[in-house]
Amino acid sequence: MVDPARTPLILGNSKMNLTIARAIAFLDRFLPSFTPAADRELALGVPFTALAAVGELIRDRGIGLAAQNIFWEDEGPYTGEISGRMLDELKVSYALVGHSERRTHMGENDRMINRKVRAALRNRIRPVLCIGETESQRAAGRAETTLRDQIGRGLEGVTPAEANGLLVAYEPIWAIGTGQAASPQDAAGMHTMIRAELDRRFGSDAGSVRILYGGSVVAGNIDALMAQPEIDGVLVGGASLLPEEFLRIVEFLPARQ
Ligand code: PGA
Repeated sequence: MVDPARTPLILGNSKMNLTIARAIAFLDRFLPSFTPAADRELALGVPFTALAAVGELIRDRGIGLAAQNIFWEDEGPYTGEISGRMLDELKVSYALVGHSERRTHMGENDRMINRKVRAALRNRIRPVLCIGETESQRAAGRAETTLRDQIGRGLEGVTPAEANGLLVAYEPIWAIGTGQAASPQDAAGMHTMIRAELDRRFGSDAGSVRILYGGSVVAGNIDALMAQPEIDGVLVGGASLLPEEFLRIVEFLPARQ
């Protein structure tokens, strides 16, 4: 049985694409057609600079606020960084941690990612630990080992009691921004493996961890992805910038119990 704490989550990741003006323009088109529903949750992951403005516009609209990154210390001499304490002040509920673009372009490694996961938990922000294999790891039959390593290192020191504040996003790197989403069956298979790994680490407390799928999610594949009971939601990049497309994703069918 699916844990009732695993309400499906649609999480938009606008990446470095929204100025405040563009975020407002997006919401001007999105909000009038959006109605919250009890069987799903929506959160918007916008750049740091847009968090306050977006937070203001979505207040009491049944939409959560997410950050795309978080630093591992709460304060101190870390010029340019943004801490969990600062995000908490902005009423941020979720923070992406270890997105593959940060691993690739900013040199984030599993140790840094682990510290970020723990910083988020300490500040009552739900970390979304992003994991995923490259095309060549997959071709070499190393996808599962890669994911297991990323989980093991990324969650070091996280206790079973903390697990209910945690989410994992499975984002195969070959599927991000390519238009080549994993098939619903392949994604479900990987989610099953990830859940087994979480069960091994956290025991029964793992039951509340939501595992999202990310990578070329669009209006045309959302229903098939969400029809897989192993998929507890999605992380949506490009399609989350298009108000009508994103609305259709949020309105995935059929509704879940
Ligand atoms: P995409 O990005 O939906 O544009 O593939 C997903 C992500 O990187 O989170």
